[in-house]
Amino acid sequence: MLCCKRKSYYVAAACIFAFTLMILYYLWTQGHSLLPNITPQEGNFCRGELASNTITAIKGTRAFIIAPYFDNRKSKITRVIGIVHHEKVKDLFCWFCCQPDGEIYVSTAAIEVHSDRFGFPYGAADLLCSEPQNCDPNFVSISWEPKGNIDQLPRFEIKNRKPETLPIEFTVCISPMFGNYSNVLQFIQAMEIYKILGAQKVIIYKNSCSQLMEKALEFYIAEGTIEIIPWPITSYLNVSSRWHFSMDSKDIGYYGQITALNDCVYRNMYKSKFVLLNDIDEIILPMKHPDWKIMMSGLQEQNRGAGIFLFESHVFPKTVYASTDIFNITSWNAVPGVNILQHIHREPNRKNVFNPKKMIVDPRKVVQTSVHSVLHAYADSVNVPIDVALVYHCREPLQVKLPRESLIRDTTIWRYNSSLIMNVNKVLQKTVF
Ligand SMILES: *[C@@H]1O[C@H](CO)[C@@H](O)[C@H](O)[C@H]1NC(C)=O
Ligand SMILES: *[C@@H]1O[C@H](CO)[C@@H](O)[C@H](O)[C@H]1NC(C)=O
Ligand SMILES: *[C@@H]1O[C@H](CO)[C@@H](O)[C@H](O)[C@H]1NC(C)=O
Ligand SMILES: *[C@@H]1O[C@H](CO)[C@@H](O)[C@H](O)[C@H]1NC(C)=O
Repeated sequence: MLCCKRKSYYVAAACIFAFTLMILYYLWTQGHSLLPNITPQEGNFCRGELASNTITAIKGTRAFIIAPYFDNRKSKITRVIGIVHHEKVKDLFCWFCCQPDGEIYVSTAAIEVHSDRFGFPYGAADLLCSEPQNCDPNFVSISWEPKGNIDQLPRFEIKNRKPETLPIEFTVCISPMFGNYSNVLQFIQAMEIYKILGAQKVIIYKNSCSQLMEKALEFYIAEGTIEIIPWPITSYLNVSSRWHFSMDSKDIGYYGQITALNDCVYRNMYKSKFVLLNDIDEIILPMKHPDWKIMMSGLQEQNRGAGIFLFESHVFPKTVYASTDIFNITSWNAVPGVNILQHIHREPNRKNVFNPKKMIVDPRKVVQTSVHSVLHAYADSVNVPIDVALVYHCREPLQVKLPRESLIRDTTIWRYNSSLIMNVNKVLQKTVF
């Protein structure tokens, strides 16, 4: 009896002991899972140096950061737009510093390399960092290792934390300008037509251009129309001026065009109702509406739920001139570049060849964009028929051997002739002449 009573006493003690162990273990595992994440550090107030360039190389790995953007469309994350080597970059860590205590929070970045790399080893990438629950950090740092001193890492301001209320209707995002770009006349004409059609902002990712182009850019910066994003990608990578690796086996295609376009979409997500993604030699030209605003409200009405509008590109060869001399303006002959008013013949469609598309997007609906379509979006894409609008693309011919009679005469661009000539002359007076 006594022995048994004592036995049950021991069993109870063992039970309590085991239970206590379980509690302790539970608490330990809970704490443990938090430990590598939240490490309060005394006297740390997030003092890492602010990254000052558009492109920042991350030490110890083959990754480059453009900019982080707050993105709570699906969950609370920081989306860092970057460029990575698609194989060599395996792990990246996001370091957040929560104010006012300087508490550090480290999370593993999900690295999403965009699928449209076109064979090049480097490509656009989104680094997705889950944010701490209990603070809204304004800065993030990226490292290849989860330990170290955050003060040694460059820190990046997380943009879009406080959305603005779409003060702008149309922003044009232009693909990187490179190769001592000097087509000044066509550039000024494109700018003036964009403005006539409704652009309030044009974003230029500038790698290189001629002295005279600099003057034109300065004019539009002072006017408030152009925002320049320096794009010194050639200091970091060997870039191709072609779009596919098989044409030119360098590190990255087309001066990092895809990364620039993605950055532009996020940069203007809460600033601009619509973003146009095209090259400077392209104009999305309405065929029946006077401007983009009226055209887009029509297109939105007919396509509820659409957020991406695709426009067919049509080549107007710069080698084929209008037969009349009316828009051969004498003073413009002194300005380097193409006079688009003289090019009103477009190449016909080819059998089995798709015309590439350019886009007007609602940036808030875009997750990842490519050049001619979006890769991932929260809205539908619609193809806009060419009786509504087309992309006027004035460049070298694609169908070189085509006789003039086979081209389609299309004088839509002439609709803007008088205001265009007047506006271009004003700009030339203040820049080139
Ligand atoms: C850039 O282009 C301009 C005009 O075409 C030319 O005068 C200049 O020499 C070029 N500069 C370089 C560095 O190639
Ligand atoms: C470009 O390639 C050359 C070798 O062809 C190499 O020496 C150079 O470091 C590379 N430049 C960059 C910026 O990667
Ligand atoms: C434009 O006019 C000038 C003379 O003012 C002439 O030399 C030139 O060939 C003309 N260009 C075209 C494309 O007609
Ligand atoms: C130039 O524009 C005016 C309207 O501003 C128009 O009346 C005229 O027909 C246009 N010229 C041509 C050649 O299309």
